[in-house]
Amino acid sequence: MTSPVSGRLFVGGEWLAPRDDFADLNPAKLDEVVGTFPNATPDEVASAVSAARDAFPGWRRTSRILRAECFDRLAQLIKRDTDALATLMARECGKNVTECRAEVIEGLHMVQWVFGSGRTGVYGEVVASEIAEKDAFTRRKPWGVVAVVTPWNFPFAVPLWMLGPSLLEGNTCVFKPSEETPGIAQRLVELFAEAGFPGGTVNLVQGSGTVGEALVKNPGVNVVCFTGSYAVGRRIQELSAALPDRIVAAEMGGKNAVIVCDDARFDLAVNAGILSAFKTTGQRCVSASRIIVHESLMDRYAKAFVDTAKRLRFGDPLDPKNFAGPLVNRKGVEKVLSYNALAKSEGVEILLAPDQPANGNGCFLPPFVYRTDAKPNLRVTHEEVFGPHVALIPFKTDEDAARIYNDTEYGLSMAVITESYRRMRFFRDECEYGMGYVNLPSIGAEVHLPFGGVKKSGNGHPSAAALIEAVTHKTAWTVNHGTDIKMAQGLTTAIDGGPA
Ligand code: UN1
Repeated sequence: MTSPVSGRLFVGGEWLAPRDDFADLNPAKLDEVVGTFPNATPDEVASAVSAARDAFPGWRRTSRILRAECFDRLAQLIKRDTDALATLMARECGKNVTECRAEVIEGLHMVQWVFGSGRTGVYGEVVASEIAEKDAFTRRKPWGVVAVVTPWNFPFAVPLWMLGPSLLEGNTCVFKPSEETPGIAQRLVELFAEAGFPGGTVNLVQGSGTVGEALVKNPGVNVVCFTGSYAVGRRIQELSAALPDRIVAAEMGGKNAVIVCDDARFDLAVNAGILSAFKTTGQRCVSASRIIVHESLMDRYAKAFVDTAKRLRFGDPLDPKNFAGPLVNRKGVEKVLSYNALAKSEGVEILLAPDQPANGNGCFLPPFVYRTDAKPNLRVTHEEVFGPHVALIPFKTDEDAARIYNDTEYGLSMAVITESYRRMRFFRDECEYGMGYVNLPSIGAEVHLPFGGVKKSGNGHPSAAALIEAVTHKTAWTVNHGTDIKMAQGLTTAIDGGPA
C-alpha cells in the first residue's frame, strides 16, 4: 500500500511545512486516504501572489528560448514518471488508469508544444505604415501574474494547458487545483521545480473555494485561467469586474451532443455515442448527455446503444480492462441520482436505469439512458449532469437537429455522424459550439487546437495553445527612421502656424 501524500504549499521556490487540514480520498475506495493537504490561509495566498509578482520581472526578461527550454526538461521528467503519475491520478480522481495515462500524454504534448514554440513561435507581426520612414509592429507582452484554477476531471493536462502558455510568454503563475486532486497537482509542481523553473515562477496553493476566491480577489493577479462549473466561472467574472484590466479566460459547463444522421455508418455512430457519453464516466466537460438521432434510425440505435452500455465495465480504476471508474465523490453520485429521479418524474421513457450504487465503499454508478422527444421545458435535457446520464432524442430534418442541439444555454462540443459533406457543413455553420467533430465522439481534443466554448460554456478565450492570446496583450510598436517627424492621416506638424 502506497503511503499517503504529505501535502505542502509551494511559495517563492520553497516548500512550506506539510499540514493535514483536509484529506483526499480515493473515490473507488472511500476508506483509502490518498493524502492530506493544507487549506491555504488568506496570508499564504497573498504571499504566493507576491512571490509570483516578485519573480515576474526576472522571468519576463529571460530569453523566450531559455524559458521554453525549461519545458524540454519538464517533458523528460513527465516521460520518466508517466506510469507513476497515471497511477496517482487514477487513485485520486477515479478515472481508469488507461485514461489517466492518455491524460499524462496530453499534458506532455502541451509541454512539447510549448518547448517547440520557444524557437518557432512568433509573438508579433511587422505591419505597414502610411509613412515610408516608419516601421510598425505588433508585439505581444505578458500580463504579469496568472492564476490557474483547475478542475479535478483533468488534473494534469488542464493545468499544463494554462501553465504552459502563460510561462512561455513570460508570465508567472499561482496554481490552485481542485481540492479533489491535490496530490497530482503537487506532483506536477514538484516536476516544475525539478526541471529548474526559477523560484516564484510557479507557486502552489491548495484548498477549497475560499482559497480560490482569495486568489481571484487579489489585485496582484492579472489573468485568471479557469476551467470548471458555470457558477464558479461566473463568480470569477463578477469578482474580476471590479479590477480595471483583469482578464478571465473561463471554460465552463456543457450540454454536449452527438447528432446521428440517417446516412450515418451505424457502428461508428453507436461507438461515437458510447464514448462521448461514458468515457470518464460522463465526467468530461465535453461528454455528451444528448444523442440526437434521426427518427428512421432511432429504434435500432436505441437498442444497440443500450445493449452496448450494459456491457461496459465500471470498476477498479487501476484495472486497465475496466471501461471506466467511479464518479469523483458522493456528492457527484447524489447529483446524478437526483437527475435520474428527475428524468422519471419528467415522464421520459427509461431504457436503462442502474440499481442502487453497486459498491457501498466507492462512488460507482452505472449508465442511465432514456428516450424523449425534444421539449423546451424538460430540465434533464437542458441542464448539465456530469455523469453517465444520457438522453436519446429523435429528429426529422437537419434543421430540427440543429435547433434541438442549440436549445441549451451551453455551447461547448458537438459531433455529427454523417457521410454527407453538405450536411457536415450545415451543422458546422448552424450549431453553436467551440469544438466540432465529424464522425468522431464529442471528446478527445488535441492541445494545439483551441479548446473553449460559447454561451455558458466559455467567454471567448479558448484554452490550450490558443491561451497564448489571453495571457498576453498586444502592443503597437512604431519606429521612425527619418530625421524629421511625418504624421499619418496627413496630420500637420507645424508648430508656429507656418507650413508643415
Ligand atoms: C475536460 O473535459 O475538461 O477533449 C477536458 C477532451 C480532452 C480534454 C477534456 N482532451 O476530451
